[in-house]
Amino acid sequence: MSDLFSKNCWYAIGGSTALEAGGVSPARLFGEERVVWRGEDGASHVWQNQCIHRGMRLQYGFVDQNRLSCRYHGWRFGGDGKCANIPAHPDMTPPDDFCVPAYPSAENNGLIWTTTGKPDDSPPDLSGCVNLTFCRSIVIDTNPTEVDKAVSALASSSRVAPGVTAVETSADETIIIAIQPVDGEKTQLHVLTAAADTTAARRRASTWARQFRWQVENVVGAETASQNAA
Ligand code: FES
Repeated sequence: MSDLFSKNCWYAIGGSTALEAGGVSPARLFGEERVVWRGEDGASHVWQNQCIHRGMRLQYGFVDQNRLSCRYHGWRFGGDGKCANIPAHPDMTPPDDFCVPAYPSAENNGLIWTTTGKPDDSPPDLSGCVNLTFCRSIVIDTNPTEVDKAVSALASSSRVAPGVTAVETSADETIIIAIQPVDGEKTQLHVLTAAADTTAARRRASTWARQFRWQVENVVGAETASQNAA
């Protein structure tokens, strides 16, 4: 993985509006699996994507009010990660160490952030970019270093924070690109628009993202392959 990316930084792993109350979703950061879920109270959580009982991926679980229930044997975990209920032993109070590891997470500027390390500060504050609206996430089959180089090489781009870049599009609109280093071969981009929250602006940002993906996968990827073959 590139040294452009530090594991002690915050990275966006999705849009806040893409995870509704009761939603459960997998995520991957630097090759490490996570489950992201939102309770009915609106609080989001980023945990290890593995049940502490028999290792079932928690991404297949479901939200029961403000608990995440494992799909396999139904153990229910509260927002603090602690097991609150074991259906096979309804009278048992689970010990405190029956707990799913949680990771630092936060939400701001329409994004859900987490880290695989220990950041010194809070997630990037993008409040200087007014009216940010989350548009979409898009996976690129190219490693994060190449994607970051391609974003930085865009004519009208400027770095906002580690892994976060503002880009002026040909439609004279500012979009924000937040890079999620998935693993050594995949990158996810989370795209926000600073234009007024209109369907048209979101559609243009989404089109820009698809075209950028094509460019990176087909042009940058081909150049890298020919350099490696030389
Ligand atoms: S594997 Fe999750 S409850 Fe058994």
